[in-house]
Amino acid sequence: MDKFIVKGPSKLKGEIAISGSKNAALPILASTILFEKEVVIKNLPRVKDIDTMINLLKSLGSIVKFSKDKKTVKITKKKKHKFFASYSLVRTMRAGILVLGALVAKYQKSITSLPGGCLIGARPINYHLNALKKLGMKYEIKKGYIHANSKGKLKGAKIRFSKISVGATENTIIAACLANGITILRNCAIEPEIIDLINFLKSGGAKIKFIGKRTVRIEGVKILKSTIYSVMSDRIETGTFCVAACLTGGNLKINNCDPKIIKAELSLLKKVGAKIKTSKNQIHILGPKKIKNISNLVTKEYPNFPTDLQAQFMVLLCKAKGKSSITESIFENRFMHVAELRRLGAEIIIKKNKALILGSTNFKAAELMSSDLRASVALVLAALVAKGTSIINRIYHLDRGYENIENKLRKVGVKIRRIS
Ligand code: EPZ
Repeated sequence: MDKFIVKGPSKLKGEIAISGSKNAALPILASTILFEKEVVIKNLPRVKDIDTMINLLKSLGSIVKFSKDKKTVKITKKKKHKFFASYSLVRTMRAGILVLGALVAKYQKSITSLPGGCLIGARPINYHLNALKKLGMKYEIKKGYIHANSKGKLKGAKIRFSKISVGATENTIIAACLANGITILRNCAIEPEIIDLINFLKSGGAKIKFIGKRTVRIEGVKILKSTIYSVMSDRIETGTFCVAACLTGGNLKINNCDPKIIKAELSLLKKVGAKIKTSKNQIHILGPKKIKNISNLVTKEYPNFPTDLQAQFMVLLCKAKGKSSITESIFENRFMHVAELRRLGAEIIIKKNKALILGSTNFKAAELMSSDLRASVALVLAALVAKGTSIINRIYHLDRGYENIENKLRKVGVKIRRIS
């Protein structure tokens, strides 16, 4: 298994280019099942989860041609489509569940593996299943698989999500595109990745529009035509590199990003002392000499502070002067990085879903173990400022969601190398 060797402390200086968004590309790729003709998708990030989703699509009968740089795909479908989404693929990449809505909407049948949980939580899909049922999907769960079908096309319905869920919102919007009639979805998640999915579907002829802050109206259409679409930039990768610049007192220009969709994060970084200048596709960030603490940071649904940057901000607050606290309100077990940060010298007290960070940590290098995707990148951030050489094991977790991170960091002055 690959590992990283990181020699700290370092200061980030120079320019970094952001890749396409994994969490926008995954639902967009899943929704290509709805399309009749060829679909071209550009600006895909070269990360493991995208490969897994493409393998899943191929197993279902999609024909996928890559460009040389593997950032563009051309997707068409074989005449004979399959409906079996296997456990082996869906288990490793839970977003595989997003093919369920597309398969039932297009083919009125699907046998899709339950995604199972992961380290950050049980990750149930009850909101997905309840919403698809309201559109007319019938299902039975047998041996870990959802055996789903619908009598004829799905039918539009009025649905209100009892809790805001990114995946459930995506699955239901995808399914409603080909349903007969009008679907009104209330209490939707409105993450930028969902807006990107909606823009992609509309580029293929879907009729989708917001009729309220969290209310979406979808008018089913007969078919979706060919389209060419470029995926948005990754706001979590952008936020991660902003934290890295702030943490190391660096001077970083972050290109190919969209500052408008990380307002909450940028205002927090200004609060801890960073100097930030933004233009249309660039963030220029100067890290402070002294990092100020944040009394209570709470993760919430967009447009509030995102759970996917919680671990990264925790590293930053370990370096802050004075106490800070972070409340994780989205997932039930998303503090796996804490035990590893303590091995680097952090003083963090956990009480249920709240972490009290004592601050003024002088990180000392150590050997570390990655766990989930964002916890792993938090360990890389800590190793950037730790004195000495750190080893970070099991970086396959990182490879799922960060494209070429060691090369991007090396380019801005970090001593990091991968050993297999
Ligand atoms: C998406 O996961 C992202 N994944 C996650 O990013 C992200 O952390 C999360 O949204 C929240 O923003 C992708 O987009 C591929 P949810 P998702 O449904 O859709 C509970 C990363 O690091 N819930 O909004 O699974 C759920 O357990 C990943 O890139 C139910 O109870 O998130 C969680 O506590 C990690 N029943 C909360 O809701 C359901 O049917 C929010 O989950 C669905 C969700």
